[in-house]
Amino acid sequence: MDLLKTLHSRTSSPRLAGVVPSEEALEGLFQAAMRAPDHAQLRPWRFLLVSGDDRKALGDLFAKAMIEDSPELSSIELDKIKSKPLRAPLIIVAIASIQSHPKVPEIEQVLSAGAAVQNLLLAAYASNIGAMWRTGSMAFHKTVMEGLGLSNNEQIVGFVYIGEQQGKSKQIFPLDSQQYFKIWPKAQ
Ligand SMILES: Cc1cc2nc3c(=O)[nH]c(=O)nc-3n(C[C@H](O)[C@H](O)[C@H](O)COP(=O)(O)O)c2cc1C
Repeated sequence: MDLLKTLHSRTSSPRLAGVVPSEEALEGLFQAAMRAPDHAQLRPWRFLLVSGDDRKALGDLFAKAMIEDSPELSSIELDKIKSKPLRAPLIIVAIASIQSHPKVPEIEQVLSAGAAVQNLLLAAYASNIGAMWRTGSMAFHKTVMEGLGLSNNEQIVGFVYIGEQQGKSKQIFPLDSQQYFKIWPKAQ
């Protein structure tokens, strides 16, 4: 797909099913992610791939975290939480790995990891692979971070759900760029 067309038309795929994309297709996504802008080439990211029955282990980890916060949760609510990672055949956990650097503060490294996720989403869209960037409270929960093996210098920037899009893409409408892009100092 033409690059600008991809950039202008990408949408998320909230409903996903099917199989995990081929290794070759995934490699195309990974290469795109790793071309994100990255001050001082710190590569401040890493990604965990969760598929098949391992998604159930991730669901169990979510449930463990939720029970810690709300021990009164019903089994129905817990089952709902456990099933979240089953919403797609593959979940890519995107992690920002912050390194100490005199010129590259933490925010720049988190932004880089976020840009890597965006590149991955764009590559997925251009490859006709459905994708959706999610976080939710589980992304910021200590128990989830520990269970996924994050170190103290790491944070989850997203759970990227990947699979085959179910249903039609949502309709998008162009935004008025003048609302967000202004000439300075003429207009405030
Ligand atoms: C950091 C980040 C976290 C997000 N987390 C969620 C989420 O947990 N649940 C959700 O429905 N959408 C989440 N979104 C938004 C969706 O990924 C998506 O961008 C939004 O629904 C708009 O759809 P579009 O990408 O098709 O324009 C998140 C987006 C970002 C950038």
